[in-house]
Amino acid sequence: MKARIVALEILNEGISNFFISRNAWKKTSNLTKQDRAFVRRLVYGTLRYYFEIDKIIDTFLKDTKKTPKDLKNILRMGTYELIEMKIPPYAVVNEYTSITRPKFKGLVNAVLRKISEISDKTHFESGLPPWLYDKLKKDLGDIFPLFLEKNEFHEIYLRAVNKSRDEIILDLTKQNIESYPTHFSPWGIKCTEGTDLDSFEQFENGDFTFQDESSQLVGIVVDPKSGEKILDAFGGVGTKTTHLVQINPKAVVTYNDINRSKISIAMDNFKRMRIFPSKMINTDIINSTLNEKFDKILVDAPCTALGTIGKHPDLLLRLIEKDITEKAQMQLKMLENLWEHLSDDGEIIYSVCTVTKEETDGVISKFIQNHGEAICVDPFEGKMNFDFEKLGVQLLKWIDGFYISKIVKSNKR
Ligand SMILES: C[S@@+](CC[C@H](N)C(=O)[O-])C[C@H]1O[C@@H](n2cnc3c(N)ncnc32)[C@H](O)[C@@H]1O
Repeated sequence: MKARIVALEILNEGISNFFISRNAWKKTSNLTKQDRAFVRRLVYGTLRYYFEIDKIIDTFLKDTKKTPKDLKNILRMGTYELIEMKIPPYAVVNEYTSITRPKFKGLVNAVLRKISEISDKTHFESGLPPWLYDKLKKDLGDIFPLFLEKNEFHEIYLRAVNKSRDEIILDLTKQNIESYPTHFSPWGIKCTEGTDLDSFEQFENGDFTFQDESSQLVGIVVDPKSGEKILDAFGGVGTKTTHLVQINPKAVVTYNDINRSKISIAMDNFKRMRIFPSKMINTDIINSTLNEKFDKILVDAPCTALGTIGKHPDLLLRLIEKDITEKAQMQLKMLENLWEHLSDDGEIIYSVCTVTKEETDGVISKFIQNHGEAICVDPFEGKMNFDFEKLGVQLLKWIDGFYISKIVKSNKR
């Protein structure tokens, strides 16, 4: 019962803010390891299938608009347990009725009973709102089922920083955490469980950090060389900045971000990993100019992040159709502004954790059309067998929905 109350509190907050903060999970700290895993699955799953769950609930409610929000969340969690987790109906109905306010106990009991009667014959499809389903099916074609499959489960990826990955895997094994080396990234570790990894001594010591495998490949593409001036234009919490310095501490890496709270988290991360960029700036890439040129610029642009809905299903609640076009326009503008700050023969590495055509090949093809001196090359230079078709590489077939493109400034054309 306690676990479901905690899950409900997290979900109430997440649904009203359209966002689940890292802090929200602290509410699970007094639960057992098993209950913490249960709460995670319940909250993530309810959000991941939010739209389909509501469709089911709404058929059993007289007036859905008048149903209090917390009550609707109780019904949502109960429906998820019945349909996806296949928890026995008597347990689900009893548990959720008991955590409901007295006035609504009868309603929750009745609705969940009715849903339990159809739960054997019902399953969830994509969890996407219909407009997004149609859009991604069109954009991704044959690999759309892969997109759904890869966003079904939430695995945790780490990057070995100050210790070898073998040593970290050994440390994790000693603490009963199953972990494996990743296939494509030489620094990556995949964990099948371990929601509390950020309280591990090895994390606090900076031995490892959290980073998806696809995102680690950006470090390979940037390939920092000694003395090269590199701008990480959208440094965020500093994950890729530290990776670039880790790969080559002699590269001259400048970190930038517009958002001061991100900068503050990045500083904590730099200290934790004991890895620092050569310089930090706080510039708006759209509305101001920088007064220097760089050999390489990493454009890890803000995007719809649709490649991460398995990990961040709450973003499905926030996303609206016009966000995609707006983000793509902004990404193009960012590339345009940064191009002026790239040295001749320099490289822009553009990456986004999303799969929409507009924000990936769409942005790059528009950019190339506007700049005769811009040439797209295979970001992996043929070293990996990913499909490169003129503009960039979408990693969905191999890893997850992450896109990387490399644009070279060649004035010899
Ligand atoms: C995808 S995140 C970057 C993640 C980061 N590279 C990492 O690996 O941790 C995009 C970042 O762009 C920043 N940003 C958004 N608009 C910006 C702007 N106009 N100028 C500079 N930074 C901006 C956001 O604050 C956010 O941290």
